[in-house]
Amino acid sequence: MNITVIGTGYVGLVTGACFADLGNRVYCVDNNRKKIESLKKGKITIYEPGLKEMVRRNIRDGRISFSTSIKTSVKKSEIIFICVGTPSKENGEADLLALENVSREIAKNINSYKLIVEKSTVPVETGEWVKKTIKTFSAGGGKKRKIRFDIASNPEFLREGSAIEDFMHPDRIVIGVESRKAKKILSNLYKPLNAPIVVTDIKSAEIIKHASNSFLATKISFINAISSICEKAGADIKEVAKGIGLDKRIGKGFLNAGAGFGGSCFPKDLSAFIHIAEKLGYKFDFLEEVKRINEEQKDVIIDKILKLIWNIPGKTIGILGLSFKPNTDDIRNAPSIDIINRLITQGARIKAYDPKAMEKSRGVLQKGITYCKDAYDVARGSDCLVILTGWNEFKELDFRRLKKLLKQPTIVDGRNIYDPKMMKKMGFVYTGVGRKV
Ligand code: UGA
Repeated sequence: MNITVIGTGYVGLVTGACFADLGNRVYCVDNNRKKIESLKKGKITIYEPGLKEMVRRNIRDGRISFSTSIKTSVKKSEIIFICVGTPSKENGEADLLALENVSREIAKNINSYKLIVEKSTVPVETGEWVKKTIKTFSAGGGKKRKIRFDIASNPEFLREGSAIEDFMHPDRIVIGVESRKAKKILSNLYKPLNAPIVVTDIKSAEIIKHASNSFLATKISFINAISSICEKAGADIKEVAKGIGLDKRIGKGFLNAGAGFGGSCFPKDLSAFIHIAEKLGYKFDFLEEVKRINEEQKDVIIDKILKLIWNIPGKTIGILGLSFKPNTDDIRNAPSIDIINRLITQGARIKAYDPKAMEKSRGVLQKGITYCKDAYDVARGSDCLVILTGWNEFKELDFRRLKKLLKQPTIVDGRNIYDPKMMKKMGFVYTGVGRKV
């Protein structure tokens, strides 16, 4: 298949690289010239395990190429995936301007049948807008003849840090279509993955994406709320999560209590879902509460620090983990940003280390943070160590060495990666989230 992928962010680049790896010819397009130039050389600005190697392999084998021209790419392809960003506006609504511009550009360059697929996360009814836009702006190459096209929705469920694995081994593939032809093309395209395919209408597919992310975020806020009750009652959230998660109807995943969710998806998608629901006449207060609980988790972490070290001004707080989750360098909406900013405002000195996200953090976090070379460097002279991302390399540290380096042997474990009993035995003043010590 000849495929165009418009937008080379996380989703577009992973989608393009994986389709190429499956043997398709993929044309990746982006309007960022600098990015395209470096992609042509196999240079990738995001950290995603396996992606660089996959892109380089497919460049070498001539299955993937990069350009800034929608025109030439669209003309050569039958399937066009739209993977441009849909950021939040100030009121939470999804900003669909890039999507509209791309749709117009596709329309102007349609030269034969095209299947136009929205992969970006979009509010329900966006497919109708894309269709209307393509209809209005496709002049049929200047001739009067009508060129046929189809619209489809094919939401992605990739997680950063395991995006390639998720693409190649998905739980399900959702395709929202209006025609048999579109269904056939997409089913064939995904056939090599051998995964269950849910074929539905476009609006249902669009809602599946928003509802999936909202449900996952709900699970996290739910377990965080339960963790507060555990803490007050003297119960242990890990035991409780295990006890409820073994019920297949509930499921074990996404029941880790901690500093809360971040990233480029959950916060944005919750707000966009609330917004479109309201536009359709439904007040989604339930999701507002999910968001509120998530914000509150940052207060929970700061309160824990206060309880352990009394006053903040003049104290040195060591932060382990800046990215919004492990295995990514992405710090968008990471709990670390708010927590660090608030600690600095209250007069703390911050030392920090993250295995991958230091460079991106430097551009976003306040000045004056001491960036360290590893966890021990952070611990040296700190009054308190705070874990904000559960990177594997933080799980097995030399705790004796750590204890000697800290000014006070205190740890706030915002991701519950340590065993409270062990930490106590080793002489740390330790607190997790909802853990029984
Ligand atoms: C999320 C979804 O999991 C993907 O299915 C979806 O495709 C993607 O958004 C998207 O819409 O593009 P991602 O943002 O990469 O993927 O991250 P997750 O692995 O879902 O984690 C989100 C946040 O929840 C992280 O900050 C993580 O630390 C937190 N989390 C996760 C918890 O606090 N507890 C948990 O039990 C699980």
